[in-house]
Amino acid sequence: MNILCPVCKNILHKSDKFYSCENRHSFDIAKEGYLNLNLKNSQKSGDNAEMIKARKAFLEKDYYSFLREEVDKYIKTDDELLDLACGEGYYTSYFKARNKIGIDLSKTGLKIASKADKTTTYLLCSIFHTPLQDSSADVILTIFAPVAKEEIIRILKDDGIFILVRPDRDHLFELKEKIYEHPYYNEVEKFSFSGLNTYKQIPIRKTMTVRKEDLNNLFMMTPYYNTTSNADKEKLKDLDDLPVTFSFLIDIYQKS
Ligand SMILES: C[S@@+](CC[C@H](N)C(=O)[O-])C[C@H]1O[C@@H](n2cnc3c(N)ncnc32)[C@H](O)[C@@H]1O
Repeated sequence: MNILCPVCKNILHKSDKFYSCENRHSFDIAKEGYLNLNLKNSQKSGDNAEMIKARKAFLEKDYYSFLREEVDKYIKTDDELLDLACGEGYYTSYFKARNKIGIDLSKTGLKIASKADKTTTYLLCSIFHTPLQDSSADVILTIFAPVAKEEIIRILKDDGIFILVRPDRDHLFELKEKIYEHPYYNEVEKFSFSGLNTYKQIPIRKTMTVRKEDLNNLFMMTPYYNTTSNADKEKLKDLDDLPVTFSFLIDIYQKS
């Protein structure tokens, strides 16, 4: 997977401390190791430091290791792998592909990822403007993140696969029962991509006891954290260790 210059789309070549193209556009490699390809006028930013800190602390406990082990079954050691919205690289760093690129807009996330994982090239930029060549990835991953449909179809090789991971209907339901008066099941959107065919859907689930001290970090990782009232968030503090169902859908798509 060649990395392209975000200004002129020519191939970027790596030097010791920067990448540059034949038109002399140059991009510094941060001291932690990620490459900043976000153009100065871009206003967007990814998850903030507080969210990243909570996610890192929770993922480090490996409650979700069964998920990455399942996804790993579909990745081959000679694959070119692209992880779109890789966060702090918990999943990206685990896979044994020949060439790995992780993209995210969160500087805090990529600092952590690139410091710990030297087997992956981490790029700071938007997944909706991905500086990679057409038809260059064998596997593209989107794990709990927005889906950049057009970029996925453009970058995937003809025989490549796209793996989408998202929460299933009853994910974390026991936690919601403790917090909300009227707990609800997640809505599971039916994705259809023109240009991609569903090849397989793998539901996986596991019930684990989440330690009291990990519950707040887990809750902060959810999309509903920001819409939950402070009074409801306070209830987390009174909870003890809690058995929680982790329930995910892994969708695998092939290019048609
Ligand atoms: C819920 S997190 C998931 C991170 C990682 N895949 C994981 O499961 O640990 C969503 C990630 O998407 C990133 N993100 C959101 N919008 C983005 C965009 N337009 N381009 C790149 N990254 C984006 C955020 O910064 C965040 O790291």
